[in-house]
This record gives sequence, structure tokens and C-alpha cells, in this order.
Amino acid sequence: MYAQMIQSEASQDDPQKLAEFQARIDADIKIEPRDWMPEGYRKTLIRQIGQHAHSEIVGQLPEGNWITRAPTLERKMILLAKVQDEAGHGLYLYCAAETLGVSRDDLTEQLLSGKMKYSSIFNYPTLTWADIGAVGWLVDGAAIMNQVPLQRTSYGPYSRAMIRICKEESFHQRQGFDIMMKMAQGTEAQRRMAQDALNRFWYPSLMMFGPSDAESVHSTQNMAWKIKMNTNDELRQKFVDQTVPQAEFLGLTVPDENLAWNEEKGGYDFSEPDWSEFFDVLKGNGPCNTERLEARNKAWDDGAWVREGLLAHAEKKRARKTAAE
Ligand code: 3HC
Repeated sequence: MYAQMIQSEASQDDPQKLAEFQARIDADIKIEPRDWMPEGYRKTLIRQIGQHAHSEIVGQLPEGNWITRAPTLERKMILLAKVQDEAGHGLYLYCAAETLGVSRDDLTEQLLSGKMKYSSIFNYPTLTWADIGAVGWLVDGAAIMNQVPLQRTSYGPYSRAMIRICKEESFHQRQGFDIMMKMAQGTEAQRRMAQDALNRFWYPSLMMFGPSDAESVHSTQNMAWKIKMNTNDELRQKFVDQTVPQAEFLGLTVPDENLAWNEEKGGYDFSEPDWSEFFDVLKGNGPCNTERLEARNKAWDDGAWVREGLLAHAEKKRARKTAAE
């Protein structure tokens, strides 16, 4: 609750406070929970970190679907470890959000009611084992592209959570690429499965970087506050430039007939995703939106007894401590 206490000490449009705050941002001095910050900075951080945390938690569902179906014990163990990592990433991020004066329960309620977003990519189904490879390779690959710069974000707790998370994301991406390699170099049926997974996950992965810069609502302000270090289109371009050679190495074809190396730009020209599909998925009309929120609501309801037991135990301990004093 630090952030709310500090805010009451100074009015929000105090020019001196705003100038001092921006000078700290420009000097790359981290903003910590007890520092004064503009209300808009606090709010947009709660929005972004909360949605980031929700993405980690909901992101476990598409992969969790394949833990019992993994083709070998080794693959099952790797996938279990990855899904467990994602839960931990969610917890780091909820902890970072709590330093801004919002409770985890409040963020959870906003997720469960559909008021708060999570990454659109998790509203697509994982239909085959090759999809688990494509999720690791493309989705975690895109997440790394987006999260590595976030290690330098201006808000201290978010930056430190990102440093920890990025270390584990690299393993996630490598294990996914390894699955794609095995499939692409396997039987003809496995190669077709890998190509089908690339076809279905390519454009939804490009959407992970957010709408085009022209459509981005938060980029300008969030870059001025160094919450965001690069624009959506910059990171999308970097992701394409890095991933196309990997697809070629696998002997797979990126599903974009406009994909071509542009010598002058020093990068690939590529087709934009279907933004009407993106905004439709954000509105709740993706293939798995309903299923994902139902699963999270069921998990919340099924876990009520654990929360009640823990709260009752804590209450009993508090009562015993008070009685002993
Ligand atoms: N899915 C859902 N919503 C999205 C989105 C996506 N892929 N991309 C953008 N949006 C939303 C934004 O949240 C915003 O809506 P809001 O005002 O209701 O919050 C709106 O679309 C406009 O987008 P902007 O570009 O203006 O928004 P941002 O400046 O916040 O940029 C972002 C979007 C690049 C996703 C940025 O929020 C960000 O970098 N977030 C942190 C990283 C993150 O959340 N990654 C999600 C994946 S995590 C993951 O994959 C885990 C891995 O382990 C599997």
C-alpha cells in the first residue's frame, strides 16, 4: 500500500514533483514503491503488470492440456517444469503489482470477470504435440523479445521480476525449438504436423507485440516513462528477423507469401496480422476465450477451501498470540 500513502503527500499536478520524477526517469534511476509517482504512471503499471501476470497464469492452460499426453516421460518432465515456471512468473508479477497498492485478489477478480486482459495468444487451442513445440519456439520466443528490454523498465520491482523471468524463458524457448526440430526432421507426418503448427501460430504470435504503432494507445506515454523500451512494431520486426532463419533451418515455410528480405531496410518485409481478428479476440470472440475464463473461474472456486483454511489458521494464530500477550 506504499504507493497510495506516498501519493497523498503531494498533489498530482505539482509541476516540481512531475519535473523531479521525469528527471529520475531520464537519468535511468529506478522508481521504487516508496517514491512519489504520477497517478497515471502507477495506473498504467498496474494495468501492464497485472495483464502480464494474468498472461503467465492463463498461459499455463494450453500447455497443461498436453502434460498427460506428452509422447515420452522426458517430454512430460520438461513440460511440467515449464508450466510450473509460468506459475512462478505469475507470482513474481502479482507481487510486483502489489507494491503499487493493488491486491492480488482484486487483480484476480478483474481477470475472472473479464475486466482485465491477458495475452491474446492464449485464446488459441493447442491441437497437436507440435503445437507445444510452436508455443515454446514462437510464443516464448516472442515473450523473450518483449521481456528482455523490460529488464530495463523504470519501475524497480517490475525490472527485477523481469531479470529473474528472462533467465527461465530462454529454457522455455529452447525446449520448444527442440520439439520442432525433432518433428521437422522426423517422419513425413511429423513434418506436416510441425508445418501445420507454424501455420496456425505464426500470426497470433506476431499479435503478441500489440497493435501497430499507429493503433497503440499507451506506447507514447509509456516510452516517455521508460515503462516500454521499444515500440510494438520495432519488437515485432526484430522477432520476424530472428525467427525466419530458424524456420528455414527447420525446413519449414513461414505462412506469408509477402515475406522477403529487404536489403535496404536490413530486415524482412512481411504481412501484418489480421488486426480485425486481433481486436475480435480481445473482445472475447477467440477460439478459446470462454474455455480459458471458465477454467480460471473453476480453479478459483475449487481453491476456496484452501484459502478459507489458511485464513482460519492465520486467524487462530493471531487470536492465540493476542491472548498470550
Ligand atoms: N493481447 C491482449 N491485449 C493486448 C495485446 C495482446 N497481445 N497487445 C495489446 N493489447 C492491449 C493492451 O493491453 C491495450 O489494452 P488496455 O488499454 O485495455 O490495456 C491495447 O491492446 C492497446 O495496446 P497498446 O500497445 O497501447 O498497449 P501496451 O503499450 O500495454 O502494449 C504490450 C502491449 C506490448 C503487450 C505491453 O503491455 C507489454 O509489453 N506487456 C508486458 C509483456 C506481456 O504482457 N506479455 C504477454 C505475454 S506473457 C507470456 O507470453 C508468458 C510466456 O511465458 C508464455
